[in-house]
Amino acid sequence: MSGHYYSPEPDSKLERGIVSAYLRGRRYRFVTATGVFSHKRIDNGTRLLVESMDVPAEGSFLDLGCGYGVLGVVAATLEPGLRVTMTEVNQRAAALAAENVARMRLGNAEVLTGDLYEPVGDRRFSTVVSNPPISAGMRRVVEPLVAGAVGHLEEGGLLQLVVQSNKGGRTLARMVDEHFGGHTVASKGSGYRVLVARRP
Ligand SMILES: C[S@@+](CC[C@H](N)C(=O)[O-])C[C@H]1O[C@@H](n2cnc3c(N)ncnc32)[C@H](O)[C@@H]1O
Repeated sequence: MSGHYYSPEPDSKLERGIVSAYLRGRRYRFVTATGVFSHKRIDNGTRLLVESMDVPAEGSFLDLGCGYGVLGVVAATLEPGLRVTMTEVNQRAAALAAENVARMRLGNAEVLTGDLYEPVGDRRFSTVVSNPPISAGMRRVVEPLVAGAVGHLEEGGLLQLVVQSNKGGRTLARMVDEHFGGHTVASKGSGYRVLVARRP
């Protein structure tokens, strides 16, 4: 057990709520609950990534550590021809993401529960997006997330990550450079930046 938002089984009392947000030109209403990341409002980093992320019209899209599903739900709504997979270690968050997918009748999105890439096996994606769980540990979780993206992206596929500039920003950029040979900063704002790298 634990009170962290990244616990597999959060033990905090479950109190449900709704987060309403205007994202990429549309209004969304997400079911949320205590015990999951940023359950009262869309996180500023998530918002920056959602507004600037590249969403291909087709192919496959992985939202790793999807929380209650903001990134994956927006991508699946914007591009009905895209196959969206969302994964999450926190079972409460994964259940909420699945509920949001169902409420929004998104036939092109699935939610899988488990650690990092374990739920997707050896599948490869056109893009991997994440607001990575920095608090869960740079070495324990974030580095395997970045390193694992190389083997889970198609050739030319994109890794898109958001990070707080003064909380792990430099370390994450170094990790991306080490595994992808470089990165670009796609957008900046509210103390966050979006790092993008293409699989060589
Ligand atoms: C910073 S939050 C972002 C959540 C959501 N994508 C958003 O933007 O609102 C990171 C998420 O990663 C999840 N997470 C932490 N460790 C994980 C792991 N080992 N495997 C999969 N997901 C993990 C957390 O539970 C959390 O929901």
